[in-house]
Amino acid sequence: MGSEILVTGGAGYIGSHTVVKLAEAGFRPVVVDDYSNSSPKAVEILQELTDTEIPAYPIDMTDAEALGEVFAAHDFEAVIHFAGFKAVGESVEQPLSYYQNNLVSTLNLLQLMEQHNCFKLVFSSSATVYGIPSEIPLTESADLGAINPYGQTKLMIEHICRDTAASNESWQISLLRYFNPVGAHPSGRIGEDPKGIPNNLVPFVMQVAVGRREKVSVFGGDWDTGDGTGVRDYIHVQDLAAGHLAALNHLQSGCEAYNLGTGQGSSVLEVVAAASKAVGQDLAYEIVDRRPGDIATSLADPSKATAQLDWKTELTLDDMMRDSWAWQSANPEGYSSSDS
Ligand code: UFG
Repeated sequence: MGSEILVTGGAGYIGSHTVVKLAEAGFRPVVVDDYSNSSPKAVEILQELTDTEIPAYPIDMTDAEALGEVFAAHDFEAVIHFAGFKAVGESVEQPLSYYQNNLVSTLNLLQLMEQHNCFKLVFSSSATVYGIPSEIPLTESADLGAINPYGQTKLMIEHICRDTAASNESWQISLLRYFNPVGAHPSGRIGEDPKGIPNNLVPFVMQVAVGRREKVSVFGGDWDTGDGTGVRDYIHVQDLAAGHLAALNHLQSGCEAYNLGTGQGSSVLEVVAAASKAVGQDLAYEIVDRRPGDIATSLADPSKATAQLDWKTELTLDDMMRDSWAWQSANPEGYSSSDS
């Protein structure tokens, strides 16, 4: 039997796709999730997709005692830590809840890992730690700096991990800096299911496609890019999930950061065009004012991950849109679609 891996936030968007990859690779994933931005339904579907029993604990990780009971009940080889609040705008309105939730849960986790002699950690970081990019494409040595409380929590956790790894050479930590994850599992059974009005482009576009929203608002047509709309490095969630497995398999003593992106940029209009092609219908859009806090271009240099983790992306923007559409069209209301 494979070793047990704790997946915090395992019912969430990236966590759920990673759980499938772990199970397929013979690991035994154990999920902790408070379902504040996810659904227990995802875990049911994960069990069906992987044909395995996946223990899932509905706990809030800021509750150290509850998390301690999970550690006591299992023998974790490693932890993949996804759980955390992630909405940029909300973090500006509720900074204390972001600092409390994201930092306290991580501190509890690291302390429990130490107590239980589990020293292998893969952490969900974000390209947001580069703030306003000092170089394009971004290498891991680019300047760091956060421009909102959400980004600050990611940056602070990276520092906490680095200091922790320096304190004891048993620690093996990878910080994975994601660019823009989109797409879904090719089965169309798990995918991104944001609560309320989506902040991110692709979930919004897909809700336009199923008729939940009228048209896409394109935030600015006067950026310094090829067509004037924002350019991002979109990565298929399946490639991203595979990156976690690669990071887990290549952990080594210390703390290392890796960019997970494709190295290819797509503009907002290119995404809308690719989505229209996948959906088979021209999706309506309108160019509106820029969104505060946005940048023109964000692009990864993923060569460190390719060289050290033996990983690279395989899927294209068309694949991402095809799979996002398979999920959204089968589940127009997300995980609540099949409730009756
Ligand atoms: N956009 C629109 N209309 C929308 C939503 C987005 O035009 O309705 C544009 C944005 O202006 C940007 C692009 O689409 O040019 C992508 O926007 P997203 O909100 O999907 O993604 P961001 O790059 O802004 O944000 C992502 C993550 C954040 C992270 C940030 C920086 O969602 O968590 O990258 O790394 F903080």
